[in-house]
Amino acid sequence: MRFQGAKNVVRVAALGDIHFKLDSKGHFRELFERVLQEADVLLLCGDITHFGLTEEALLFIEEAARVLREIPVLGVLGNHDFESGNEAAIHRMLSESGIAMFDGNSQKIYGIGFTGVKGFGGGFGARALQPWGESAIKNFVQEVAAETQRLASGLSKLEPGPKIVMMHYSPIVGTISGEPAEVFPFLGSSALEEPLNRFQATAVFHGHAHSGSFAGKTGANIPVYNVSIDVLKHHFPDRLPFFVLQVPVES
Ligand SMILES: [Fe+2]
Ligand SMILES: [Fe+2]
Repeated sequence: MRFQGAKNVVRVAALGDIHFKLDSKGHFRELFERVLQEADVLLLCGDITHFGLTEEALLFIEEAARVLREIPVLGVLGNHDFESGNEAAIHRMLSESGIAMFDGNSQKIYGIGFTGVKGFGGGFGARALQPWGESAIKNFVQEVAAETQRLASGLSKLEPGPKIVMMHYSPIVGTISGEPAEVFPFLGSSALEEPLNRFQATAVFHGHAHSGSFAGKTGANIPVYNVSIDVLKHHFPDRLPFFVLQVPVES
């Protein structure tokens, strides 16, 4: 592993929604080469595979081999990685390839505390889905409650200092704006926002809302970035679709 950034700044690159398919070989080589030139750490914010196939995960790992050798790569799964029921195998394959996979765990790298979860839907604010009525609705709400609890647990284990959070679903409406209002409840949940504010995260990255907005803030002014590849292509049309945040750290 190498660390080429200035001593007191870590360059954290992030992107989501790679959606690697069986015919995606070669599509991300240039992007990963550029990440190696511009970043010290890479975050993958879910939907790493398209159909959730282990074969897709294997091809992705081959595609990312050089970046995996040279800098720390961290990730969370997205809903597409669950599509074929192979999420446990995909999680294991990505972990064994050297990617630090997050599901409520936490890790300190180059002086930054990292944690992450997949997250889930449920909607936002006063219009969020409540656990009332049919058990299917209660189970849906329970899923985001469990993800929120894992996120809080991950954040609670981080020491004072910069705290970076990655997830797939959005914790705020601000970064899904641009999507049709009808799908907002399936793009994220404001339940996920509460622990970010309580534990004072430094910045949050997510994907999933391919037609959302690049940047927003939580109620406690914590920056949230939607790094879905399609959003980055739209927001930064002149550069390859990854975003780099310079995070000051104690040298
Ligand atoms: Fe996606
Ligand atoms: Fe997704």
